[in-house]
Amino acid sequence: MFEHQHVVIFGGSSGIGLATASQARSLGAKLTLVGRSHEKLKRAAEALGGARIVQADITDRAAVEQVFAGAERVDHLLITAGAYNAGRVADTDPDILLRALDERIAGPLYAIKAALPLFSPRASITLMGGQLSDRPSGNGVAVISAAVRGVEALAGALAQELKPIRVNVIAPGFTDTPLFDVLGENRTAFLQQVAESLPVGRVGRAEEIASAILFMMSNAYVNGEVLHIDGGGRLV
Ligand SMILES: NC(=O)c1ccc[n+]([C@@H]2O[C@H](COP(=O)([O-])OP(=O)(O)OC[C@H]3O[C@@H](n4cnc5c(N)ncnc54)[C@H](OP(=O)(O)O)[C@@H]3O)[C@@H](O)[C@H]2O)c1
Repeated sequence: MFEHQHVVIFGGSSGIGLATASQARSLGAKLTLVGRSHEKLKRAAEALGGARIVQADITDRAAVEQVFAGAERVDHLLITAGAYNAGRVADTDPDILLRALDERIAGPLYAIKAALPLFSPRASITLMGGQLSDRPSGNGVAVISAAVRGVEALAGALAQELKPIRVNVIAPGFTDTPLFDVLGENRTAFLQQVAESLPVGRVGRAEEIASAILFMMSNAYVNGEVLHIDGGGRLV
């Protein structure tokens, strides 16, 4: 289904991005993976049996432009690059909080603009949303929630501005990925607690989010969509 198609993934070295890379590869895609850590990119490319890898921070405009310099046609662009930038407004430096906007709004804009001349006519762009758009609850999530909601608005407007290129948003609920490694020894207990709160009784797997992303990439009538894959998390 993805034979000879070039899929570029910012955030392709881990978690949801890597799972999507793996599924796209098994369907014949050519891959470019982008991330900040060369080591992680190298490990991912080896695990996938080969991929073009480019080290770049998505918030660095010049570095993002380099990703596409001399690159071949782009059929699908996926942006999962980002961390969980949370912090209470009262006691967090705004520069730290605003990183959520840099990673989720500014960075994707740099990537999309740089890729524009390379997109095939039937290309798709998939941006990363999340449950915080509908449920901005939790400790210190004000700015990251605004960023995630902003991604949805950005995608809807771009789906019109960039036509016929399609622009969609994947909105995962809690998904067990290395994103939660920052919790250290609290990781397992935290995810267990989340699992018990969800209608499905467990958190998601990266592969489950990845298959939804491939659906949006490959179904040429899906456009301007925000696809929630959250185990019913928005309901509780
Ligand atoms: N897992 C969840 O429960 C969940 C739920 C909703 C939304 N999300 C969002 O989905 C996205 C992917 O999450 P994940 O769970 O797959 O996390 P992950 O396993 O930590 O993967 C994040 C990927 O993005 C890259 N990355 C991070 N910051 C970057 C930057 N500034 N520039 C370029 N690459 C960057 C990372 O590589 P480097 O560190 O080497 O740069 C890595 O490849 C994140 O934006 C996350 O907030 C996740």
